[in-house]
Order: sequence, then C-alpha cells, then structure tokens
Amino acid sequence: MEINKVCVIGAGTMGNGIAHVLAQNNIKVILIDMDKKLLDKALETITNNLDRLIKKDLLNDDAKKLTLSNITLETDLSKIPNDTQLIIEAITENKDVKLALFNKLDKLINQDCIFASNTSSISITELSKNCRPNNFIGMHFMNPVPIMKLVEIIRGFSTSQETYQTIKTLTERLKKTPVEVFDYPGFISNRILMPMINEAIFTLYEGVASASDIDTVMKLGMNHPMGPLTLADFIGLDVCLAIMNVLYDGFNDSKYRPCPLLKKMVAAGKLGRKSGSGFFDYTK
Ligand code: NAI
Repeated sequence: MEINKVCVIGAGTMGNGIAHVLAQNNIKVILIDMDKKLLDKALETITNNLDRLIKKDLLNDDAKKLTLSNITLETDLSKIPNDTQLIIEAITENKDVKLALFNKLDKLINQDCIFASNTSSISITELSKNCRPNNFIGMHFMNPVPIMKLVEIIRGFSTSQETYQTIKTLTERLKKTPVEVFDYPGFISNRILMPMINEAIFTLYEGVASASDIDTVMKLGMNHPMGPLTLADFIGLDVCLAIMNVLYDGFNDSKYRPCPLLKKMVAAGKLGRKSGSGFFDYTK
C-alpha cells in the first residue's frame, strides 16, 4: 500500500517536524492537537524551518508553498477522514494517555488504517493490545525531525510483515534510514542514550563538576556534537524522566533509576528549552 493520506496527532516538538517532513515529500497531512494555540505555533515553526532551508539553498519558494498546502490543521478527532491510511501519534509520553487516544481512534477510523506511535520507549505491544495489533507499529523519529536521518521502526508482538514493509517503504520515501527494532523498553536509541544522560545528571547531582564542564568533557573528549545535559534540555526533561521510568519498570533493574535531581527539576517545571530553562538558561 502506498501511503498518501496521513494524520499526525500531537503538534509539539516532534509532531510538527513529522508533519513537515511528510508534507515536503508531497504527502497530505492533517496535523491535530487539542490546543489550537499549539497548532498555530507548530505551523509557524514549520514555516520558519522551511525558510531556513531556502536560505541554505536546499529548497525553493514553490516547494515551500507546496509543503504548506499539504498541511491541514485540526483540533477535532472526529474530522479525521475515514480513508486515512496512516495515523502517527506524537502526544505526551504517557502510556495511559496514549491508550485512551488509540482506543478512541480505533472506533473512529477504518480497520485498514495503520496506527503508528512515535513513543520514545513505551511498549508497542502494550499500546496495541486492544486495537488492530497487526496494523500497529512504532515509528520513532529523531529530534529535530527535518534534519535527523534515523527512524527506528518497532515491531510489536503482532505487527504484520505487510505493515512493517509499508512503513519501511514510507520511511525511505521520506529520505530517512529505517532500522528494524524488536519491542523492548527504550528500543535501541533510548536504551543506550538515556542511561548516559541520567549518569551525566548524577555527576552534576553529586557535585563532581559543573553542568558546562560535564558537557565540555563529552563534546571535546568523546567528540559528541552536543553535551548530554544540553541534549537533555533539548529533548525535554519530562520526556527524559518518562523514558527512565519506562526503562526502570520494564527491566526491573536499579541501574535505570532516574536521578533525584532529574525528578526534582521536572517537579519544578524546569523542562529544558521548551520551558525556558533546564540545566541551562534559554531566556536570554
Ligand atoms: P510535546 O510535549 O512537545 O508535544 C506533545 C503534544 O501533544 C502537545 O502539543 C499536546 O498539546 C499534544 N497532546 C497531548 N495529548 C493529546 C491528545 N490526547 N490529543 C491531541 N493532542 C494531544 O512532546 P514531544 O517532545 O513532541 O513528544 C511527543 C512524543 O514523541 C512522545 O511520545 C515522546 O516520547 C516522543 N519523542 C520525543 C522526542 C524528543 O526529543 N522530544 C524524540 C523522539 C520521540
């Protein structure tokens, strides 16, 4: 099945990037969020990112117009057309919230439509338990979506070969590199990345060094393009905490316990870039 009609749900950090990449590759996208203000902000972000591509001579004005004309904004789930072929969910990293959404969608949308989740860590098998398990898959884009080449494609316990192949082909059409992953907590990327970020937070918590020195060591000593604390701020500390909790619960292993400083910062609303401050300040 060639995918040409997609709905992306959640217009935050990831959802706007996913809608952008689909639309730029001439796929019709309905971008949904329950908050109209966030939808407007998402469209502004997409427009700014397209302008940046034009400045770098990677896109022309016609391609920008075509991309924007492929995107429709919507707040109401019941407006999703019944012939939608793929729904990509990119809402808050919370299992119960995602389950409630998928259960609602399952009743609204034709059974041939593939449901994909952009979850960073939650089990695809559990998310698909009560709705179309054969037509359910993980499609884990990386942030920022228009730039990063990788998409982890996660097979739930019952994901069919046909669904897997359709999503792999779509990923290649988006000029991204798919990697096949089986369904275990954190998949590949976050199982390796998040414990490193959590350890960097422990290093700060125990007073071993300052936040900027911890990042300098990983940038200049290990050749990472970005330090782990800057990366945590970029991802969002709430998302980092949610992923550590999934790893901790999923493996029942204390090595994945989230650092108390990470928990405290999330409780204080210090979520990183999106809230204006995290390990570093973004207000200036
Ligand atoms: P975000 O907090 O920036 O955006 C989430 C959006 O979903 C918000 O705009 C919110 O209004 C909307 N939303 C929440 N519940 C909704 C519902 N029931 N119906 C419609 N809209 C709803 O979150 P972000 O960072 O974009 O993460 C989204 C998903 O992508 C999560 O599962 C996260 O783990 C995953 N992810 C995040 C990455 C990152 O670097 N932030 C990287 C890769 C995956």
